[in-house]
Amino acid sequence: MKVLITGGAGYIGSTVATACLEAGIETVLVDDLSTGLEAFGDGRSLYVGDIADVPFLDRVLADHPDIDAVVHCAARIVVSESVSDPLGYYDSNVGKTVVLLRRLRTAGIDRVVFSSSAAIYAGEDGGGVDERSALAPSSPYAATKAMVEHILGDAAAAGDFRAIALRYFNPIGADPRLRTGLQNPTPSHALGKIMQARTEGVPFSITGTDWPTRDGSGLRDYIHVWDLALAHVAAVQRFDTIASTGAPYQAINLGTGDGVTVRELVAAFERVTGEPLPVVEAPRRPGDQAGAFAIVERAAELLEWRASRSIDDGVRDSLAWAEKFRSGR
Ligand SMILES: NC(=O)c1ccc[n+]([C@@H]2O[C@H](COP(=O)([O-])OP(=O)(O)OC[C@H]3O[C@@H](n4cnc5c(N)ncnc54)[C@H](O)[C@@H]3O)[C@@H](O)[C@H]2O)c1
Repeated sequence: MKVLITGGAGYIGSTVATACLEAGIETVLVDDLSTGLEAFGDGRSLYVGDIADVPFLDRVLADHPDIDAVVHCAARIVVSESVSDPLGYYDSNVGKTVVLLRRLRTAGIDRVVFSSSAAIYAGEDGGGVDERSALAPSSPYAATKAMVEHILGDAAAAGDFRAIALRYFNPIGADPRLRTGLQNPTPSHALGKIMQARTEGVPFSITGTDWPTRDGSGLRDYIHVWDLALAHVAAVQRFDTIASTGAPYQAINLGTGDGVTVRELVAAFERVTGEPLPVVEAPRRPGDQAGAFAIVERAAELLEWRASRSIDDGVRDSLAWAEKFRSGR
């Protein structure tokens, strides 16, 4: 089996590629290296170019006429940037995806696995969300994910494709063998801010302590990126079974099924580092939400997959990767 992974030199795409290769699936990576790292394509079949460059895509597909499925990870992903440059985001994430899909259809490739996001859900009140929960993307970035899902749904209904949208919750960690990880080792999520506070020797600020969660702090469903990658392997391997048992377009939540509050994340960080982490409490920031966790029964049923790594594993691998990345080893 051979899979084309767009965004295959990025954080998630490169990890998916490793998991595929370990499962005996051949991979072809396409990435324009706008945020991806060329080194993540070392020893792999990496084509550097844009997913909407048709002559470039034609070359990739001519070199690999035996591609069975596509995992479409390529996208711009910075929420704040999408607010200041919405047209750029709709162009990159929606417009370019349509170009890619047209080219895939011409080539007869009809299995598409799409990197979607839990950011499309409305329900952010500290509870669980399943795939039927209401959608209300709260940023242009999230809207691009919802739009591509919609496009895939329509194209699947018309018989152009069969598609699985995997709605990621909050990926953390790195390849446990540290082959790949975040290109930006201190991202804007809570764990990134905790790591940054520790590096700078300043207290970590818990913003919002009056949310309707068990301890008042915000809650997220942190999923280890290796678990996430294994879910893609399952989606690709079980694609035809999944597509034949239900609609030709399916959305599946990828989370642990268990929320972790900011205070619990701090406790995990302290367990892993063996050091106390100074914290201060601060008011909610504009735009903050209580958060949500994934209801993961559909993933268990269709993918026969469940996340197995703990929050401590995610913290440990994030720290180890950041250390390796910074030291350039
Ligand atoms: N990281 C998260 O927290 C998260 C959460 C939910 C969903 N996702 C989705 O997962 C996917 C991967 O995200 P990531 O965290 O690995 O981000 P990333 O920035 O590391 O990966 C995206 C990759 O796509 C490439 N790319 C972007 N535009 C391209 C184009 N036009 N042509 C070719 N390559 C292009 C980039 O160079 C990069 O390597 C994205 O679709 C994102 O929306 C990520």
